Parts: sequence; C-alpha cells; structure tokens
Amino acid sequence: MARPKIIVTRKLPEPVETRLKSLFTVALNPSDTPFSTEKLIRAMGKADGLLCTFGDRIDAEILAANGARMARIVANVGVGTNHIDLEAAEDVGVVVTNTPGVLNDATADLAMALILASTRRMYYHEARLRRGDWAGFDITSGLGTSLRGKTLGVIGMGRIGTALAQRAHFGFGMKVIYFNRSKVLVPSIPEAEAAGSIEAVMAEADVISLHVPGDAANRHLINAKRLALMKPGAHLVNTARGDVVDEAALIAALQSGAIAGAGLDVFENEPRVPEALKALENVTLLPHIGSATLETRIAMGMRAVDNLVAFFADKPPPHQVV
Ligand code: DGY
Repeated sequence: MARPKIIVTRKLPEPVETRLKSLFTVALNPSDTPFSTEKLIRAMGKADGLLCTFGDRIDAEILAANGARMARIVANVGVGTNHIDLEAAEDVGVVVTNTPGVLNDATADLAMALILASTRRMYYHEARLRRGDWAGFDITSGLGTSLRGKTLGVIGMGRIGTALAQRAHFGFGMKVIYFNRSKVLVPSIPEAEAAGSIEAVMAEADVISLHVPGDAANRHLINAKRLALMKPGAHLVNTARGDVVDEAALIAALQSGAIAGAGLDVFENEPRVPEALKALENVTLLPHIGSATLETRIAMGMRAVDNLVAFFADKPPPHQVV
C-alpha cells in the first residue's frame, strides 16, 4: 500500500523530520518560509495530511480547497488551535490534532522568567546599561519588587497555569489565587485559592499571568475595565494568545503608569508589535517563544507525528481536537 503523503509547512527539528521520512512520503519545507494561502490550498489538494503550526492560518477556504481537497487530517505542532477554523474542519470532515502536555514546563518557565523580568525591571536596566547610562552601583535607583509573600493571580488554571503556580509558590514563596472558567476539580497545589471572578483576581493579585485558550470567548478578556482594577504596582504577563488582551488598553495602562509593568510573549497581530509597546521601558517583549526549547520542540513534533501515525492506522489520534 502506498505511504500516505504528508506536506509539512515549516522546518521541524531534525529528529522529527527523520521520523516523518521513515513513515510517510513527505514534502518538507527546508526554507522555513511560511506558505501563502494559495500554497496551503494546493497542499490540501495534493496530500493526505498537512502538518502545520501556529502562523499557518487554516481557514474555511483552505479546508474546503474549492472542492479539490484530498487531505483528511491537519496535524498541528502546538497546543493552541485558534489559527485553524475548527468548525469548518468538522463541516468538511477534516480531523484536527494538537500536541498538549509536552510544552507545559517550557511555557511555565518562560512565564516565570517574564514575571521576574517585569518585577525586577530587567529590560529598563539592560537598556540603560547598553545605552551607556550606568554610572556604577547604587542603592536606591530603579528598584524592583520582591516576589516572596506577594500574590500571583493565574487566569486559566489548566496544565500551563498549574505548572506556573507550582513554580511561583514552591520556588518563589508566592501566594496563588486563580480563576478558571470551569471548576478545577483537583487543585494543582492545595494552597491555591479559587477566586470567584476574573475581577477578584485582577484586583487582588500583584502579578497576573494569563493561561486561557485563544478562542472567540476569550478575545479581549482583559479589557480596559479589567485592567483598571489592577493595583498600581501590579504586573501583567501574557504567554497565552495576544488577542486575550486588548493591546491598546494595555498600552494606555502602561503609558500612564496605571500598572507597573508587563511581560508579553504574544501579540494581537503577530508578528506585528505596536511601536508604542516597543517604546516603553516597563514592558518585556518576546517573539512568541513560550515552547521554544529544542527538547520541547522535538517532543511537540513527535506528538504530531504520533497523531498522524494513529490516524493513518485507522486508530483514534491520541490528541484529536475535532
Ligand atoms: C502553542 O503550542 O500553542 C504555542 O503557542 C505555539 O503554537
């Protein structure tokens, strides 16, 4: 029987590409240049499966592919699937899979790094050092905030929110409160307290970290009204999806000093980052690297391959979204 044909939209770590080649007829993307819409449509029409990632916008047009679609599975390398029109996929009978679990530690580590960067004003200090504005050690200028005894507010207490809560509580002595849209049955750490609402978290926490999916219900979940509830010295960290925060409202809060700082790994219109954000010294900006360790990216790629293997063996893929 002919091997299924898989088109891969972006360059993958070498061990993942090697495994893919051993199992399927594969078209790789050595240049790593993102596919255009037309190229994605052609890929859906020519292959049995598409292996894609965040940044490949798989919308209804691509899924339908003018009726010429051949691909029956879209295997995403990544946990978030907000770049894929899941309803359209279901309508045309295309299976979508993702890669949860293996990126919890890397993403929680990065959220913790952003908490430290923001509360210790790392970008501000690094920028003045690089400008040559450092005259030597002193005791009182540019002081940050200690974490021990402060409150971390986690919005979205899933796998990544949980991993962050553990780091912040056991590693840094923070109290943890959280809001989750569905009830958390087994609290990640017994010491974490469920707050009754997002508003309660916004008002009480010294640092707020977002870990909700980027679905339509969560668009601008953190809006001007909720930002206004934050304490003046509080910090906001977002490693989830950019559009969970109203970026313009956040910029206004950072510019006015209504909040002390922010650490952002994701943006509303990636890869565009507003100039107004780049101009601020109380915000740390990273280019969507939450899961970007070699070990994690290999594990994510392997999980996507596991999904393809199961699907083409007529078994349920271990991580099927629709
Ligand atoms: C994820 O896994 O969703 C990361 O944000 C990268 O896509």
